[in-house]
Amino acid sequence: MHADLFMVPGPVQEKGLAGKTLVMIDVLRASTTICYALNAGAKSVIPVSEPGEATEMRAKIGVENSLICGERDGIKIENFDLGNSPLEYTREIVADKNIVLTTSNGTRTYGKAKNSGVIITGAIVNISAVASRVAREQKDLAILCAGHMEHFSIEDTICGGMLIHKLLTDEKLILELNDAASLALLLYRSNSRALKETIAQGEHGRYLGKIGFGEDVALAANADSIPVLPILQDSRIKLEEVEL
Ligand code: MLT
Repeated sequence: MHADLFMVPGPVQEKGLAGKTLVMIDVLRASTTICYALNAGAKSVIPVSEPGEATEMRAKIGVENSLICGERDGIKIENFDLGNSPLEYTREIVADKNIVLTTSNGTRTYGKAKNSGVIITGAIVNISAVASRVAREQKDLAILCAGHMEHFSIEDTICGGMLIHKLLTDEKLILELNDAASLALLLYRSNSRALKETIAQGEHGRYLGKIGFGEDVALAANADSIPVLPILQDSRIKLEEVEL
């Protein structure tokens, strides 16, 4: 089975993803937030690229049962219901709601996913659930890291490396890796004992700390703390039951 990792989504061709299992990763913070929102009872998360699309989508699906959420430069968009901090997504606020989410990098990567197989949202908080779902699929794998403004980000690549490590060790798969996937695996293995520190010291981790979201960075590095399986289908991300 082939496992390819892409450190940024820009150069990835949609046709290269056809039929493959796809794992979308934006540890800080879209993927982590999506796990938190669905775990808190949100009906679905609808990823969109731009704030204008979010308002249009809310008008289309109904204002009463939806929230518009997201950030630019890490800060809640003006007049939106929620920002992009996982901690905002409490049961009281999001249960039974459709969350229309737009983030600077993470939600834009979903646009690449039109012709692929199963599309899984991956984060450190749900990494083992993602690994066993990928293994069950038995198809070639593409790991798409959101990165930051088309640049490498350490937390997404480490998370991709952690997924590959789990596929090799826990799931006992034999994988043919592209060079970026090999590098991600090395990066994870050499930082596995200090995930939180490494992520907090990364560019985006430092930025979020500076603007008051240090707690988000710490919780995003907490492996398997939110063991859910968010799957994109018909433009909505919903929970799939995790098989134990
Ligand atoms: C993104 O999509 O770039 C992130 O989720 C930004 C953030 O940390 O809110």
